[in-house]
This record gives sequence, C-alpha cells and structure tokens, in this order.
Amino acid sequence: MESLTKKATRSSNLDSLFYRSAEEFFPANSSVSLTYDDVSLATLYSEIVPREANLETRIAPGLPLHLPVVSSDMDTVTESRMAIALALNGGLGLIHYNMPPKQQLSEVSRVKNHVHGLIREPIKVLPDQRIGDVLAMIEDKKFSFSTFPVVDFEDRLLGLLPGHCVRPRFAPRGVAEAMMPRAGVLTIREDELGADPIARADKFFTEHIGIHKLLVVDKEDRLRGLFTLSDIERITQERSLQTKPARDAKFRLVCGAAVMAPRDSQGRIDKDGLITHVAALVDRGLDVVAVSTAHGHSKGVGETVRAIRAAFPELPLIAGNVTSAAGVEFLAECGATTIKVGQGPGSICTTRVVAGVGIPQLTALYVCSKAAAACGVAILADGGITKSGDVVKALTLADAVMCGSLLAGCPEAPGQIMEINGKFYKQYRGMGSHAAMKAGSAARYGHAKELSQKSAAEGVEALKEVSASADTVLGQLAGGLQSGMGYLGAASLPELRANARYTRITPAGLRESAPHDIIEVKTGG
Ligand code: XMP
Repeated sequence: MESLTKKATRSSNLDSLFYRSAEEFFPANSSVSLTYDDVSLATLYSEIVPREANLETRIAPGLPLHLPVVSSDMDTVTESRMAIALALNGGLGLIHYNMPPKQQLSEVSRVKNHVHGLIREPIKVLPDQRIGDVLAMIEDKKFSFSTFPVVDFEDRLLGLLPGHCVRPRFAPRGVAEAMMPRAGVLTIREDELGADPIARADKFFTEHIGIHKLLVVDKEDRLRGLFTLSDIERITQERSLQTKPARDAKFRLVCGAAVMAPRDSQGRIDKDGLITHVAALVDRGLDVVAVSTAHGHSKGVGETVRAIRAAFPELPLIAGNVTSAAGVEFLAECGATTIKVGQGPGSICTTRVVAGVGIPQLTALYVCSKAAAACGVAILADGGITKSGDVVKALTLADAVMCGSLLAGCPEAPGQIMEINGKFYKQYRGMGSHAAMKAGSAARYGHAKELSQKSAAEGVEALKEVSASADTVLGQLAGGLQSGMGYLGAASLPELRANARYTRITPAGLRESAPHDIIEVKTGG
C-alpha cells in the first residue's frame, strides 16, 4: 500500500502544478498584467480561527498599525473625522491638501487632540436663560438629553442644570435658580485624565453611583468637555471586540497628511515654503507625511521627497504613485519609507482612458513588492479595492491598502448628504477631476494652478450611496481579511504573504465567484 508520505508528496506536487506562489505565478504570467478579479487564492490546511488572525502591519519604521488600511488623501474622503475613525480602528487617515495650509494644520490638531468619548463642545446654557428657552432649544435641535452644564460668557463652569428640572411646569423659572451650583458638581481636570481617559472616566462612574455626566475643566475652571456614562459604557463594551486604536508614543491617535510642493513664479519648487509647512505639521504631532502625485517617478517628486528627508531625517514619508521597480527604487533612494503603488486602478480614475497609461494593480504590486523588499521600504496598494477579497489579495504583496471609494459614502467623509429620487448620496470625486484640480490638486497631475483648456482631467466627479459608518465598513473589511487569512492558514500578515498561492480565473470563473442564478433579496454587506 502507498505510504502516507508518498501520497502527501503526490498531492502537494499536484497542488503546486495548478496553484502557484507569487514567485512562480507572476513571472509565468509576465506577458499579461493582472488585477484583483483576474486571480483567486487557493486554500491551505489551517489551524487558524479567523477572529484570531493578527492584522498588525508596519508601514514605516516607528509606524505600526493594527489594521492595514489607510484612507485616501482625497478631498471627498479624508479630513479629521475620517482620520479619527481610521486611527480608532487601528488604521491611518491621510488628510488631503485641497485646503489652505492653516486649515490642514487644524485638521491634524483635531485628530491629535481627539480623546475618544470626550464630547469636546458640549451644549451649554447660560444662567439667565429660562427653563422654557432650554425646552425650546431641545425641541428645535431634537436633543435626546436634557442635562446641561451652565457656564458664564467665558465658559467658566457655574453649575449643572439637571434633566429632572427641565420640564414644562418650570418653564418660567430661571436656569440659575434650578441648577445645581458649582460646589456640588463633580468635575475632573483635563490634565488629570492620564494616558487612558476612557478608563479614568469609567472608574469615575463606578465610584459615583447615579452620576451620568462627568464634566472636564481646565485650570481656570473653564469647561473643556464632558463624558457621558452611556458613551463610556458603549466604548468599553466595544473595546473588547475591536482592534486596538493606532496611537503614537504619547497615546495620541496617529495621523498623516499629504503635501504638495508649492512652486515659485518660475515653476521651481519652493523648498522653504514646503519645509515650513511640514515643520508646522510635525509640530502638531503629525506621524507621517505623504507626497501624493499621479507620477511619482519624476524629477519634481524626487526633489520634494529629498527636501523633506533632508529636513526631517526620521519622519515616516509616503511617496508615489508608481507601478515600476525603477519607480520604487527611485523614491526609496530619495528617502521615502513607504511607496504608494497604483496608476489608474481607482474607481474615479481616468488616467488609463485619458493617458493610456497604468498597470493593472496586482501585477504592479508584484513588481513593486520585489523592488521594495530589496530597498527595505513598505508599499501601499492604492486604489481599485472594491471588496474585502481584494484586500486579502492586495496584502499578499503589499503592507497595507489605501481606500477611497469604500469610505467615501460614510458619514465621516467630508461633504453633504444629498437626496435623489428617495436615495441618499455623497459626492466622491477624483483629485484629477476638473473640480478637484480647481480646488487645489492640479499639481498632483502635473498641471499649472490655473487650468487651461488643455488640462485634461484624469478623474471623474461621482456620487456614492451613503453607507454605514466607517467603524462598520472597516469592521467588515477586517472580518473579510481575517476570513481570507483563516483559509490560507495564516496567523499574521507575513504568513499570508508567505502562504499565498494564485490561480488565474476566466470571466466564467469570475461570474461563478459572485452570487449568481438567484434573485438576491439581501446583500452580504
Ligand atoms: P478607489 O478605487 O479606492 O481609489 O476609489 C482611490 C485612489 O485613486 C487615486 N485617485 C485618482 N487617480 N485620477 C486618478 O487617476 C484621479 O482623479 C484620482 N483621484 C484619486 C488615489 O490614488 C486614491 O487613493
């Protein structure tokens, strides 16, 4: 009878004939460039329970993430709200640069100063208001709460108006006579919150039975924020389920920002202006700066990266975009720690249509990953991610993915919600669209600030249906990624990379891969 070892050798030979490692698969398919939907991954024997798969990655020295997802530096994707959501979920947000430099500094400060659970600008009332005014405000703003801090015109705390006094029968009475005076209100000083404000607030609520609000004050007794018991309970419950937030050494959320080198009247890079702005960002606590352009393997981008590296030897620096090994080597030599890979895969991109240029994303990632490994830099798979399966495939070659479209419909993305025929949408536009280039991103696509008729747009203006919150979207991506890792027997992302084996699929295989021959009544998302 045939021995078990022989059988195992035979089956593994058979598998390796059909399902190939990256080193075999991509060179064997070198005559054609492939993207996510062109391939599928083969399963392997596994002892990994998906929820235990570890999603830690490191996109630059000193910049570990607990979720390998970065939000795009686009003006319809990442400002402070989105960057906060990304960091709270373990990832990273890159604040876009289509805004005045001062505003970008404030956006970064908002992320760096964010204390999860702390309501920074609580609704307050004045002592000479009537209870009737407070009731009218609650009705008008549809507040679901009725306890309010009472402050003077300089925000100094005078007392607390308890919800049980805010009733129509007391409408003519004054806030000052109904409030609990300052001496009776328990508060905490902002500088006493410590490294883990949630744990501190949680302890306070356990120690003070019946108290539902904890007011935070500064040294001058000015109101700086408040915690509510219900928020703290929700956050502490979620904490055990969620991935850890991505924080810096001072326990602040991590934050990145994209910059564009300003040019002088002769078109030369204004290095002083660039370095002054990056220095101000670093002063606010910025963790990583990104030089984001459509063509990273170019003189201007090289000069910009070199200038930043010379001024900030230790700062993590993302640069791109490229799709060639030479492009990766060039940016790494200029001083980038992290290279963005992707030319034309984005959902709103028209680079391939307009310029006829770009490489389908999976082949680009393979080529760039080989160069990145040789240069000791990380790569980000930027654009074209439409589902968690794409994240799994991308991370077999890259250190993290960058997403625009998947996040643009979230409430945390900038922009108003609009209603069209009973459905709700948010704007999502390419940074190379005419509208975005007019708002500031023209240089990213190699155009002058004042667009001419010849400035071809390389992106479209679009709408995204309003989606669930960033927490939910990121949770689904993380869950899908962990499932993929479970199928490949990978306990960590390096193991996912080592274990991946690919097979090409045909249009029929792709059709088979998604729900088919049914009437779908509920989508999986
Ligand atoms: P997804 O597919 O996630 O892609 O929506 C987001 C990425 O697309 C890039 N980007 C553009 N590429 N023209 C382009 O060719 C554009 O107008 C444009 N705007 C954004 C960018 O890399 C982003 O992260």
